[in-house]
Parts: sequence; C-alpha cells; structure tokens
Amino acid sequence: MAKYYGDLIFEKSVEGRKGYSLPVSPVKDYDMDENLLREEEADLPEVSEFDVVRHYTNVSFKNHGIEKGFYPLGSCTMKYNPKINLEVSKDPRFTSLHPYQPVETVQGILQIYYETQKMLAEISGLDTYSLNPYAGAHGEHVGLMIIRAYHEAKGDFKRTKIIVPDSAHGTNPASAAVAGFDVVEVKSNCEGDHCDGTVDIDHLKEVLDDEVAGIMLTNPNTVGMFEKDILEMAKLVHDAGGLLYYDGANLNPILGVARPGDMGFDITHINLHKTFSTPHGGGGPGSGPVGVTKELKPFLPAPVVRKAGDLYLVDGIGKDSIGQVSHFLGNINVVIKAYSYLRTIGKDNLRDIAKLSTLNANYVKESLKSHYKLPVQEICKHEFVFDGLKDNPHGLRALDVAKRLLDFDMHPPTVYFPLLYREAMMIEPPENESKQTLDAFIDIMKKIAEEAKEDPETLKKAPLTTPVRRLDEAQAARNPRVKFKDLLED
Ligand SMILES: Cc1ncc(COP(=O)(O)O)c(C=O)c1O
Repeated sequence: MAKYYGDLIFEKSVEGRKGYSLPVSPVKDYDMDENLLREEEADLPEVSEFDVVRHYTNVSFKNHGIEKGFYPLGSCTMKYNPKINLEVSKDPRFTSLHPYQPVETVQGILQIYYETQKMLAEISGLDTYSLNPYAGAHGEHVGLMIIRAYHEAKGDFKRTKIIVPDSAHGTNPASAAVAGFDVVEVKSNCEGDHCDGTVDIDHLKEVLDDEVAGIMLTNPNTVGMFEKDILEMAKLVHDAGGLLYYDGANLNPILGVARPGDMGFDITHINLHKTFSTPHGGGGPGSGPVGVTKELKPFLPAPVVRKAGDLYLVDGIGKDSIGQVSHFLGNINVVIKAYSYLRTIGKDNLRDIAKLSTLNANYVKESLKSHYKLPVQEICKHEFVFDGLKDNPHGLRALDVAKRLLDFDMHPPTVYFPLLYREAMMIEPPENESKQTLDAFIDIMKKIAEEAKEDPETLKKAPLTTPVRRLDEAQAARNPRVKFKDLLED
C-alpha cells in the first residue's frame, strides 16, 4: 500500500540531512517563557532539497488540475486564469496591507475595489455591486436576503416563495431554502423525454402569485440554452410584484454580448473565481459579487466602497443594509485578479470570450453527437449536455465514461447534472482551449464510445492508471479518509 501512494516524506528522512543552510543570525538569543517552549523536538523530516522538490512535485502529479490537462467540467469549470493576474495579486504592496489601516493609506486597493464594482456594473447592466460575498452560493444567499429586505421595507411580509426552474444549479434552491424561503419549482419546456431547460411560461404563470418574492434564473441555463422569452418572463414576474435574480456564476457566453440588467434582472451574482481569473477548487478561493439595480442599492451588505471627490471611502452599515456578510471587504485578493484580468483583456475584447466559449462548445458537441445522445439539438452557448452513450449494448453509464477519461489525463465532465437527464454529461470546453486540445478530447471520447461496445469491462473497471481507483463515491464524500495511516489500515 505504501508504495502505491508513493513514499511519505517522513520515510525519506535521514538523521542530520538538511535541505538548507542558514546564515549565523545577528539577532541575540531570546529567553522565552518556559511554558511556551516545546517539551520535545518537533518530529520533522530531515531531507535534502532534491528530496523535497521531487516528493511534492510527484505528489502534485497524482491530482488532476488545469495545469496538467483538459478540464471540461460543465458549469463549475476552471476558465482562463492567466498567471500574470496571480503575480499581480501577490505583489507585497497588496499582501502587506492591513484592513485596519486608515483609508488615506490604502487608496490604491480601494480604487481597485471601486473600479471593479464599476466594471462589473457596466458588464452586467446593473447599477452597482458589493464585492463582499465569498462565493457564488454566498452571493445567492446575500441576493435573497436583499430580496426579502426589499419586500419587507415596503411592508410586504407575505412573500415567502422563490421560484426556481427544474434545470437550476443545486445551489439555487439550497440558497433559497437556507434564506428561509419556500422553493417552488417551475418546469422546463419538454418534448417527450427531452427538456431543454428553458422555462415553461405557462407553468410560470401558474406558479406566480402575490406570495412570490422572486425567481432565480440562469441564462444561458445549465443546458447551455438562452431563454429567448426572458423579456416576457421578466414582465410576468415584475407584474406579480416579484424580483428577478440572475445566477451569473458563468458569465463567459454573454460577456460583451448581452447583459442581465437589459434582460430585466434586478439582482445578480458573478463568480469572479470562474469567469474572472481565479483558479479555484476544493472550496476556494472565491468571490461572488452581488449586483443590484438602483432601487435595491440601500439594501447591499456593508462595508461599501464609494468615491467622494478624489478620495475613496469605506462606509459602515447603512440603515437599510442587510448587514455585514464577510470579514472587511471580502476576498480582496480574488478581486485584484479580476481587476487585472479585466484591465488586460480590455473592454473591446470581452466579446471574444463569449464567441470562443460558444464556438468551442458547439465544435465539441457537433463532433461527438454521432457517439453520444444529444437531447437538445440547437446551437448551445458555453456548455451542453449529452444523455449517455448513443450505441450502448452493455448498458454502460455516464460514470463509466467519466472514470475512463481519467486514464487519458482528462478531467471528466459534470455527470448526473442537470437532473433533467438520467445519464447527463455536462461538457464545458472553456474559451482558451486550442483546437488541438479539443480534437484530442473528441478522439478520446470517440475511443471510449467504441470501447463501450467492444471492451465494456475496461470501462467498468476504469480508472486503471490513477493513484486511487474507483471509490465508493458516497463514502468518499461523507466519510473521507485522507490520512495516510487510515489508508494503510485498510
Ligand atoms: C450555475 C452556477 N450557479 C452557482 C454556482 C455556485 O458557485 P460557488 O461554487 O462559488 O458557490 C455555480 C458553481 O458551481 C454554478 O455553476
């Protein structure tokens, strides 16, 4: 077992071996309080520089990451994260700032914050933004609190329902429920078994009433379809006294082309850690700014950055604000990366992101539809969904295809989501991937489809080459055993 996982760094330890040499310190020894001292020497590995570098490089290769291979994970994928933005955000002139410094001494970072608010407002067609929330789901929760605050400020306490389409990302109904709303599902348009995820307007009319606080929509939706009736839907919801919330986690396909504000949305969140250049995974780092129309501005969380003359100021909690939702201004390091990204891409080139993400998705979709079932035939935006293998005599599942991709150093698509399809495989090839990479993915997906007919056992056993083989997914998520010792006990 130990070999399988590679040797531990502790097993490489040789007494007295060092990977560093320190100069003699000019600082005098300091006698620390006895009770602050260790009772025993720390048990640290004694290894050379080579040992350390090789060990951790090898460990890093055991994981799949955007730096190792293609990552077509629909909806949640890593988009383009140029390294330059990471470098900018690591500048000590940012990292050495303290949130309690007087505002006159942190004008630079406040300017970045303020200008990022402005750029996001312009991109999305809303009035202003708070960059405080830490993630998409956090932004959703904040947006829902704003919706409640807005209705309650008008003395309307009966609006307890939030409408969510059946194609919505799971965080939408979850955020609504956590915010204390009752979730009302609205159906997608379907022909037979095949639903395209767009909202069934007749059903929307049925579920709209004076208890509806708002609707949460993703547009383009999780099937990659644009809601062509969005203006009619916005009117219906507004006429019923509700607000429209836009899940802008994946803004790529509409950048510079369409704006939620122009579609009639009142609130949106944007995932800076997806569309705007922060590599994310395993829970962070993230930032889910929330944008609102002028009417909703007073309800934004605090603190708020504003400009007075030439000075940038930070305001505390206003009388109608929903309060504070993050430490200080939020995840400022992610904001710096987004700012740097937007500045380097430039306003006039944003549209290329939309064009390329849409082109890439359609290229992969069209190239693979002879091998995988494609429920929705129309042109998609940045992502699309297959419903399992087309020719599938051995009844292989989306999971088998996903696991087999790992053997080819490719990250699997999102599987079994959206819930509209039994064998959903949601594929998003981001804007910056080359035709050669897409072709390699297409070839491998075709090879896997052939294997499914001729050598089904290989697919059922896949992955065959990864450090950890097929896991019990539920146990791995609910009861993770990530310590080496735990693994050895197996
Ligand atoms: C459509 C959509 N909405 C919401 C979210 C939630 O974002 P986060 O993971 O930052 O909470 C995601 C991301 O996974 C998403 O793809």
